Amino acid sequence: VTEAVVLVGGMGTRLRPLTLTTPKPMLPVAGAPLLEHLLARLRAAGVERVVLATSYRPEVFTEHFGTGTSIGLDLDYVTEVEPLGTAGAIRNVADRLRGGPDEPVLVVNGDVLSGHDLAAQLALHRDREADVTLHLTEVADARAYGCVPTDEAGRVTAFLEKMAEPVTNQVNAGCYVFRRSVIDAIPAGRVVSVERETFPGLLAAGRLVAGYVEVAYWLDLGTPAALVRGSADLVLGAVASPALPGGAGQALVLRGAVTEGATLSGGTVVGPGATVSPGARVSGSLLMAGARVGPDAVVTDSVVARDSRVGAGCVLVDAVVGDRARVGAGNELRAGLRVWCDAVLPDAAVRFSSDA
Ligand code: GDD
Ligand code: MG
Repeated sequence: VTEAVVLVGGMGTRLRPLTLTTPKPMLPVAGAPLLEHLLARLRAAGVERVVLATSYRPEVFTEHFGTGTSIGLDLDYVTEVEPLGTAGAIRNVADRLRGGPDEPVLVVNGDVLSGHDLAAQLALHRDREADVTLHLTEVADARAYGCVPTDEAGRVTAFLEKMAEPVTNQVNAGCYVFRRSVIDAIPAGRVVSVERETFPGLLAAGRLVAGYVEVAYWLDLGTPAALVRGSADLVLGAVASPALPGGAGQALVLRGAVTEGATLSGGTVVGPGATVSPGARVSGSLLMAGARVGPDAVVTDSVVARDSRVGAGCVLVDAVVGDRARVGAGNELRAGLRVWCDAVLPDAAVRFSSDA
């Protein structure tokens, strides 16, 4: 296969405030936008042409990737004025695809980090002569995903999007191979969901939807906790990416960053021009460009976004500090707390525990 469609039009609501200006797939993780890691993997698997289905803030994608030459791909963009849903977005790019009716088209959710074998998924699709072949993986809690049971022959028997009581832990991993003609048959010009309409419809019509089951590294980076985890795993080498600058290690310190006298661990990224002061300890965290962490602060599993500041002696665990926010000295931010962009917290203003 040489053609792929990547769905990147979502608003990334669960990642606010990080996604107020940057679409989710363009958030920097491990030294490159999440999407760049994904595109590099597609390229390594032999994909040459990619159509990005954009909607929310499309200019951020074009400004960064242009025609794709710098990453060795022929990149094309199609923008939905109003989001058309996952299947509507795929249908909307159909006239940019070049393969014939029976040729395979790879379709990927733009927020997934996966170490699975794309070539093996494509090979299964061809061998089975399937209409669609879904990568399926296993998760501990399937409620946030598409729950996808299969039979002994590897046929998908149902597609149950985000059900309260999942019938199996086997879920849709957000990477599909479509027979081209199946894409052309999606109704045009209206909102359509692959998960709620297209896949259930194909199953009801008796078409062959195959499951490619592989439990490799897999993470949907749709929440701050997952974004931080995925970034750290890339830095640590738990999942390989051809777009990772330098080798894997405990920390990735990008150009112009200053970290002397600080302790960095657990796959931490220190973004371009960011500063971590002496005595600070940063673990498993994502510090974006121009961020500053003060002396003796302890930052764990947190995001400190662009040009924001975390004051001396702060403790951050599972926290998000938005772009340009200023967190004064001695604050304690935990448990998913989000400081909005440009917010200013005075010194010692917020605590989680009662001990001072
Ligand atoms: N172009 C376009 N237009 N893209 C869209 C639209 C749209 O209207 N809606 C969503 N997307 C993109 C998002 O940008 C994202 O990359 C991808 O489609 C999936 O959307 P999410 O909002 O991240 O969905 P999810 O994570 O809740 O669920 C999906 O992914 C899971 C695996 O990560 C579903 O496909 C689940 O079944 C699946 O298990
Ligand atoms: Mg998602």
